[in-house]
Amino acid sequence: MDEEYDVIVLGTGLKECILSGLLSVDGLKVLHMDRNDYYGGESASLNLIQLWKRFRGADTPPASLGSSRDYNVDMIPKFMMANGVLVRVLIHTDVTKYLSFKAVDGGFVYNKQKVHKVPATDMEALKSPLMGIFEKRRARKFFIYVQDYNESDPKTHEGLDLTRVTTKELIAKYGLDDNTIDFIGHALALHRDDRYLNEPAIDTVKRMKLYAESLARFQGGSPYIYPLYGLGELPQAFARLSAVYGGTYMLNKPECKVEFDDGGKVIGVTSEGETAKCKKVVCDPSYLPGKVRKVGKVARAIAIMSHPIPNTNDSHSVQVILPQKQLGRKSDMYLFCCSYSHNVAPKGKFIAFVSTEAETDNPQVELKPGIDLLGPVDEIFFENYDRYEPVNEPSLDNCFISASYDATTHFESTVTDVLNMYTMITGKNLDLSVDLSAASAAEE
Ligand SMILES: *[C@@H]1O[C@H](CO)[C@@H](O)[C@H](O)[C@H]1NC(C)=O
Ligand SMILES: *[C@@H]1O[C@H](CO)[C@@H](O)[C@H](O)[C@H]1NC(C)=O
Repeated sequence: MDEEYDVIVLGTGLKECILSGLLSVDGLKVLHMDRNDYYGGESASLNLIQLWKRFRGADTPPASLGSSRDYNVDMIPKFMMANGVLVRVLIHTDVTKYLSFKAVDGGFVYNKQKVHKVPATDMEALKSPLMGIFEKRRARKFFIYVQDYNESDPKTHEGLDLTRVTTKELIAKYGLDDNTIDFIGHALALHRDDRYLNEPAIDTVKRMKLYAESLARFQGGSPYIYPLYGLGELPQAFARLSAVYGGTYMLNKPECKVEFDDGGKVIGVTSEGETAKCKKVVCDPSYLPGKVRKVGKVARAIAIMSHPIPNTNDSHSVQVILPQKQLGRKSDMYLFCCSYSHNVAPKGKFIAFVSTEAETDNPQVELKPGIDLLGPVDEIFFENYDRYEPVNEPSLDNCFISASYDATTHFESTVTDVLNMYTMITGKNLDLSVDLSAASAAEE
């Protein structure tokens, strides 16, 4: 292997596959390797037999669960915001032609021990049982302000400079109570903790607008979309894209040892005694364990059920966000449910996930408030995994390492990581000013 690659990508997780696709399209010479003989790494989708092998060892799945190949259980389940950055990336790269999407039925929030639909517009605020009559009117005014807000039109700013005013100050102007702020911040703006309250309000306003605009794209009950047959389709779609632009894929490559020169800069990757030369390496944390540190642990439960999540309006696909304050926790909890309506399970079966950032030494107990919302389950599996973040300086070693996937069940933080990596690798921002209406053709 004498030729030199611009970039060698290690691991075929979602983040790595999106990056190798984008870099190939940019004209870089990309080699993509994985030690596994399947796509997806940590973000693979499993059929029933693979699921049993992972969680139950030698046992075989009961026949009552149906055919193994009817299952596509994402190990990192996440919904995409219909107008969000990932969808823009998919359209920008034309990867939509390899995938079919379907709207997600419901977006819900847990509030005062109950599950409610997330109100996202002024009209929905008026109908929502989440608020009392006077609070509804205040919330409606706030939603109208957000809907009308246009960054480039000062007339819509009502004299407020949202790059300076904090979210807390903006919300105080509308007199909203803490309960309302809680669902707006966590279930609509999708903040993961309460730091946003003291940060410039512009970010929260933009996130609320994204939610409302994504919701408006479909007549459904949520702003999210999800691919038929699960997210496992995504890494493969980006691999196909990369191949179209000359990228080379190699699965089942043991070891994948990253090689450095005396100055600590990456020079290549060795597998089975052969070294492929490169200028840069992109990888998930497992390929460079010496350059990452543990930053947390995700706790989760995966359930197979024969009914939708109760109190979600019979939604066959749904996200429920349980804000930290509602549970007396530091981190939010997430429920994700998908079913045969997205071809991830046989007819009549539902796959539900409960996930959160672990805060104690007994994460299984922490998940209880989420699991209690599922009702009876056919089967349930528990798993924890450590989260890592890079600690290297990419400008010195030319190694670009993704962060482990967090507990969220939507893509917003994942895509932010990918785009930041793209900018670090290429020195430029990805131009995502695409025509979103082009996506409609790809959706069912
Ligand atoms: C925002 O304001 C600018 C400047 O007035 C205008 O050109 C643009 O059409 C507005 N955008 C929307 C969505 O109203
Ligand atoms: C429940 O779902 C139906 C469609 O299945 C929809 O028309 C209705 O608006 C939903 N209700 C709520 C409260 O979301």
